[in-house]
Amino acid sequence: MTDPPAESQRTARPDGQPREDGVKDVDRAAELRADLVEKLRAEGKIVSPAVEAAFRAVARERFLPSDVPLETAYAYDDAVVTKRDEHGVALSSVSAAYIQARMLEQAELRPRATVLEIGSGGLNAALIAEIVGPQGRVVSVDIDPEVTDRAAKLLDEAGYGSRVRVLVADAEHGVPNEGRIDAIIVTVGAWDIPPALLAQLADEGTLVLPLIMNGVTRTIGFRREGDHLVSTSVEVAGFVPMQGAGRHPERVFVLTDPNGKQVKLRFDSGVPADMSPLDAVLATERTEAWSGVTIPHRTSFADLYLWFAWHLPGFCLLTVDDGTELANERGTWFPFGAVRGGGFAYLAIRPAMEGAGVEFGARAYGHDRELAAMALVKQIRAWDRDGRHAEPVFGYWPAGTDVTRIPADAAVMDKTHGVVTISWPAP
Ligand SMILES: C[S@@+](CC[C@H](N)C(=O)[O-])C[C@H]1O[C@@H](n2cnc3c(N)ncnc32)[C@H](O)[C@@H]1O
Repeated sequence: MTDPPAESQRTARPDGQPREDGVKDVDRAAELRADLVEKLRAEGKIVSPAVEAAFRAVARERFLPSDVPLETAYAYDDAVVTKRDEHGVALSSVSAAYIQARMLEQAELRPRATVLEIGSGGLNAALIAEIVGPQGRVVSVDIDPEVTDRAAKLLDEAGYGSRVRVLVADAEHGVPNEGRIDAIIVTVGAWDIPPALLAQLADEGTLVLPLIMNGVTRTIGFRREGDHLVSTSVEVAGFVPMQGAGRHPERVFVLTDPNGKQVKLRFDSGVPADMSPLDAVLATERTEAWSGVTIPHRTSFADLYLWFAWHLPGFCLLTVDDGTELANERGTWFPFGAVRGGGFAYLAIRPAMEGAGVEFGARAYGHDRELAAMALVKQIRAWDRDGRHAEPVFGYWPAGTDVTRIPADAAVMDKTHGVVTISWPAP
């Protein structure tokens, strides 16, 4: 991911000026755009002619800071951060091409539709405008006026000014004066679904949002089924976090090793009531346990984290300081763990027998390290048996709906405004 200094404003590119390699920027951009579309089609992220046409029409570089190379603007999975807070945390970005394409497909947009985009930047709104056409309506809102000013200016310059309405608003409160919306595309990490947004969604409408579930995000395409929502598609992606009234800060618990270096355990919710048994745990002996579950090299196992987030009590994400034992062993573990009593375990891998890729297991510290390691290994095996072979189905039941109708095989996670459910189809 490139990291431009700040919200640098794009002025007109030197179109017509040859680059050092003698190729005009505008020609190079067209070439890269065509390559990107081919790649997105080949990877199955673009499947419809409408999304393909939009990607062929919109000049991505017009919406990126001027110091971003064309190759980055047309990269498959490079997000470009356009604003950070004082601690360096990304607040706004132009999303990667693959996830923009995928979310547009998930939203199943139609010509003439009214579409609400949460989180502005200009680029995605321009793509939406291309798909819904001149008789459609695009409303793009952002909580940050600096972002909306920039997006409105860039959209104007690119010729979309009259087709996209850009507003400052907190998604939590919806956009009450904009009427019924056919599709809502949320481009910021959401911990819950704001009731005000849901109230504006047409009965036949689609909602696409990156939903954070116990620290793990899935971009989910939802449709209504009576009084609740059911997922129609799922994608793996990360987003900048929601600000404003719907913000949900994580809880961080710091473990310090004998050299004063830190391992941070990041909990979404459900922090174990008493973390004191973990004091000085990094100075204790470590154990490991192996699951017998293997995976070939270069195969995604992102759903294992999702499984943990739903089924492993005490689940947390890890961030480690350089100089810790964990940092020195990078490549042999992944930053997902769990706390069990006085034990802390995290996901580890080792080469599998006979070139079968890697085997999953757990390493663990603390008084209850055996317990913590075995709890993690148990869930690796459960995922292997019940989760790894099929894409899960999500539901969202707003507060007030009859949750007794939630299917018995679904796991349930409480949110502020409702509950999320997950079920894993039988292998
Ligand atoms: C990933 S960026 C949006 C990218 C954009 N859709 C594009 O064209 O690539 C996420 C944006 O969400 C905005 N945001 C964060 N919290 C919000 C909220 N509660 N309501 C509206 N916008 C919010 C941020 O200010 C940020 O600009």
